Amino acid sequence: MNRKLFDFIHHRSLWLQFQQYKRSSRKNERSFLVIESLFSALDLRDPLTANHSLRVADYAYRLALSLDPYAPLDYFLGGLIHDIGKIGFTDHILKGTEIIPKEERWTLENHVVQGFQLISDFNLPVIALEMVRYHHESFDGTGYLEGRKGLDIPLSGRIAALADTYAALTSERPYKRSFHHQEAIQSMNEISERFDPSLLSPFNELVQQDVKEYGGSQNEKSFYTADGIYS
Ligand SMILES: [Fe+2]
Repeated sequence: MNRKLFDFIHHRSLWLQFQQYKRSSRKNERSFLVIESLFSALDLRDPLTANHSLRVADYAYRLALSLDPYAPLDYFLGGLIHDIGKIGFTDHILKGTEIIPKEERWTLENHVVQGFQLISDFNLPVIALEMVRYHHESFDGTGYLEGRKGLDIPLSGRIAALADTYAALTSERPYKRSFHHQEAIQSMNEISERFDPSLLSPFNELVQQDVKEYGGSQNEKSFYTADGIYS
């Protein structure tokens, strides 16, 4: 198994749950193997995108524990591959040091469709498929690619949008600094129309849990160095 994923599943005490998940049906066993392979390929192509995906998986899983408790591990798996469509990007777009110019935005935005097409024949959990396809939709209808609005966006897509935005804001990139968790939450509240209002409060509680656990400095760097993993 991918070492990063293996370490993280152990770190979050999810190992036994994933063993049970795999044993529960042939479909789940195959889904886990396919998604693990895709995540490993993404990690080889661009470790930063894989790290980001692991964080999205973590937040989506923890939100789903209370909001969709019948399938929280499907949210974890969906988070791992939500950006798999980026695997075919040129280095210029995937690893560029500047914000993508407007004329190239369509290439970037198309990753939700590329990703969906890549995985659609594997009989993966619907939640994972939805997270790939809808994680850039906005509650107010201004997202992409379909411009879905409100509850027309599946719960998985609405959860993925929150997890993805927060993970991106609290990550350092060549063209942006990492936001402190309070700044990230504040920024998200300023554009709250883009998110399902019923999810903002539970997500904020989840972040506050991290603040307690990580001493108020939870961001991408501290996330991966917590308890020594990836340090
Ligand atoms: Fe994305």
